[in-house]
Amino acid sequence: MSVRRCLIARDLLTMAGPIASELRGNIGDVGREEALIGLVRDGAVCVEAGRVVWVGPAVTCPDGFGQPELFEVLMPAWVECHTHALFAGSRAPDFARRNAGLGYAEILEAGGGISSTVRQTREASDEALLASLIARLERFAAQGVGAVEVKTGYGLDYDEELRHLRIIREAARTLPQLRIVATCLAAHVVPPEYRERRADYVTMVCDRLLPEVARLGLAEQVDVFCDRGAFTVEESRAILTRAKALGFALRAHSEELAHTGGTLLAAELGARSADHLEHARQEDFAAMAAAGTAAVLLPLVTIHLDLPDRPKARALIAAGVEVALSTDYNPGSANGDDLALTVSLGCSMLKLTPAEALRGVTRVAAEVLGLADHGRIEVGAAAKFVAFDLPCWSDLPWHMGAAPGRLPLLG
Ligand code: NIG
Ligand code: FE
Repeated sequence: MSVRRCLIARDLLTMAGPIASELRGNIGDVGREEALIGLVRDGAVCVEAGRVVWVGPAVTCPDGFGQPELFEVLMPAWVECHTHALFAGSRAPDFARRNAGLGYAEILEAGGGISSTVRQTREASDEALLASLIARLERFAAQGVGAVEVKTGYGLDYDEELRHLRIIREAARTLPQLRIVATCLAAHVVPPEYRERRADYVTMVCDRLLPEVARLGLAEQVDVFCDRGAFTVEESRAILTRAKALGFALRAHSEELAHTGGTLLAAELGARSADHLEHARQEDFAAMAAAGTAAVLLPLVTIHLDLPDRPKARALIAAGVEVALSTDYNPGSANGDDLALTVSLGCSMLKLTPAEALRGVTRVAAEVLGLADHGRIEVGAAAKFVAFDLPCWSDLPWHMGAAPGRLPLLG
């Protein structure tokens, strides 16, 4: 984006509003909706050297930023806060197996699923992995996404996890318009060679891998898949506790396949988020609210795996939990990267309001990644936006998938 610039929009969504539980008014009331997204009608944003320097009503906009550029709907660039975008190969054969009656968890137990992607990814060269990761991240940028999380989790040994983290760092260097947040998910599943000695894998992750990742500065976050068929609460506790001591921010995949207690653990350790939550309960929501742990909900998983249980988004919001939405882009449970469709499904399947869903892919998703300068339009924020050619901002989730006239403005 050129040095000084002024953007004016009929609907300017700043996302600078308060958390839903602090707002009066009934769910879906226009006033509540507009407060949640920090709507400024006929609003202006002035940017200088890649940062927002002024935001407010266009009539009071300062001079000196050149000819204003006009938009219908303008909002902060979206934030994709949960992806497994570094992988090789395909899991397409799973469709036939699943539709012949095997479940996702059974395929995983039989050595397929995540382990099949681990095999294919370990065999891929650095060059092939980097090229495919860059192509996937470019597709997010083309959607108007300005920050993306990328997890490891298909390496699952000391050298492979470090190799994958280095590839993520290389991709981040190649795409400076995207803020990439790297997450070490060495605790995705126990790799086959450790199946008979799980404790040794946990010890390797805690005592060798995580200290080296910290020393090299290769990741900002550490995640665990704490669920049936993955890691137990006690194994996850050991890994997250060590990660926290090393200065990593914490994330968790929890209560997707069964209720095992990973969400309470995530809240207890102050994790940024607990993700999935299909089987999470009221006591989990209360603990998350008290700890300030956000929920990341992933409706593409629900449809791709045709899961019978859905996370209780309305109960989460009523409990005072901030809710983010993400694609969970990965080769197995959600082989899709359409964040706009995710927003739409957040409304239709999870019963979020349009404002809550849009907040979930901007401000809340940025908070989940610890990014204070993404997901909102306010002074000091990164000058990254996405514009839409729509009659009203609330038409966005109403449209399933990319809405008309989408224009990424990532600088
Ligand atoms: O978020 N739940 C665990 N991990 C991923 C799935 C990864 C895969 O199936 O390859 C998820 O759904
Ligand atoms: Fe995931």
